[in-house]
Amino acid sequence: MSDTQAKGDNLRTDGNRLWDSLMEMAKIGETEKGGVCRLALTDLDRESRDLFSRWCEDAGCSITVDKMGNIFARRPGKNNDLPPIMTGSHLDSQPTGGKYDGVYGVLAGLEVVRTLNDLNIETEAPIEVAVWTNEEGSRFAPAMVASGVFAGVFDLDYGLSRADLDGKTMGEELERIGYAGDQDVGGREVGAYFEAHIEQGPILENEDKTIGVVTGAQGQRWYEVTLTGQEAHAGPTPMHSRKDALVGAARMVGEVNRIGLENQPNACATVGLMQVTPNSRNVIPGSVFFCIDFRHPKDEVLSGMDAELRKVCADIAADIGLEMDFEEIWYSPPVAFDEACVSAVRSACEGGNIGHMDIVSGAGHDACYLSRVAPTAMIFTPCLNGISHNEIESAEPEHLEAGCNVLLQAMIERANAIQ
Ligand code: GLV
Ligand code: MN
Ligand code: MN
Repeated sequence: MSDTQAKGDNLRTDGNRLWDSLMEMAKIGETEKGGVCRLALTDLDRESRDLFSRWCEDAGCSITVDKMGNIFARRPGKNNDLPPIMTGSHLDSQPTGGKYDGVYGVLAGLEVVRTLNDLNIETEAPIEVAVWTNEEGSRFAPAMVASGVFAGVFDLDYGLSRADLDGKTMGEELERIGYAGDQDVGGREVGAYFEAHIEQGPILENEDKTIGVVTGAQGQRWYEVTLTGQEAHAGPTPMHSRKDALVGAARMVGEVNRIGLENQPNACATVGLMQVTPNSRNVIPGSVFFCIDFRHPKDEVLSGMDAELRKVCADIAADIGLEMDFEEIWYSPPVAFDEACVSAVRSACEGGNIGHMDIVSGAGHDACYLSRVAPTAMIFTPCLNGISHNEIESAEPEHLEAGCNVLLQAMIERANAIQ
């Protein structure tokens, strides 16, 4: 191998092949509006996993699956005692998801492997491409749960016992789709972890940059709230004597939004899921279940938002006479990525003359948990109008190719670094 190859300079991935793979994968769970619905551990998730595994085997990788269903496709290096240089992301989607969220990072990893094969490059350390189970946190909460188990943040029993709204657990669903693997989860060294992802926000597009060099990610707190009032007839029950759980929830949603607006810049506050019982047009709602998603890059601001939320929800429940079960189900602190890995991404942009800027991730990613056990960085590419978690999510092939080239170069650099 020449010095140039050892550093990965001037090497290019095949953008058309990457694009074709993305479009092929997007057929699994495709929606009428051009997006994807591939919830974690459904039959469609199994189909996407099978296709990924087949492509990786065709590219000469060996496949292992761990007890959380995380898949690892491994391309051997010269020295297989070295910890692998890993990349990856997720294949599960939101119910109205797009073609790129997660899938891009997985298939960019596959494209790196295919390119190394084409160029006959043997890296010192092995390369692994990971598919993390249930990154989205849509069907099973919390998000990033399986990379969290890999990183030792959650124990295996906690991960396997996460249940969807119908009570089906991740453990049962992994068995059902044939992805309850036999490998222990985590507990092994990873030399470095890089994850390519669409930005899912508007900053790169607004700044006219091709690559976001991701220096870290904002913190998140997720809550589940159940309000219980009293079901009663919508006609004969006077307004002043009602215990309307939905009125309580509506006031709380307004407060969530206010707290987000009052903690600018950067705070995000969302209620995205609500279930009203009995959900009948002429019954005063007796109970409501809803979820709150709070985010901020600064932990102290996020804590302040948390304290205010707890207070206003308690006040509203008392005012209406509702019982409230308020639970914080997830806290993911702000993350700073590894300086050397971040510099490897930045240098790859500079070497390739690619317009880039530093950026903090607004979304959660498996890289956040990987960063606890391995030097980690991420590579962002723009998406049209910054829209994601939407079937109209759209990305330019040239941007995706540029991100994949940066991934290739950063991974080669780390895989050939003296370790
Ligand atoms: C993951 O998609 C998140 O909600 O950030
Ligand atoms: Mn994602
Ligand atoms: Mn997502």
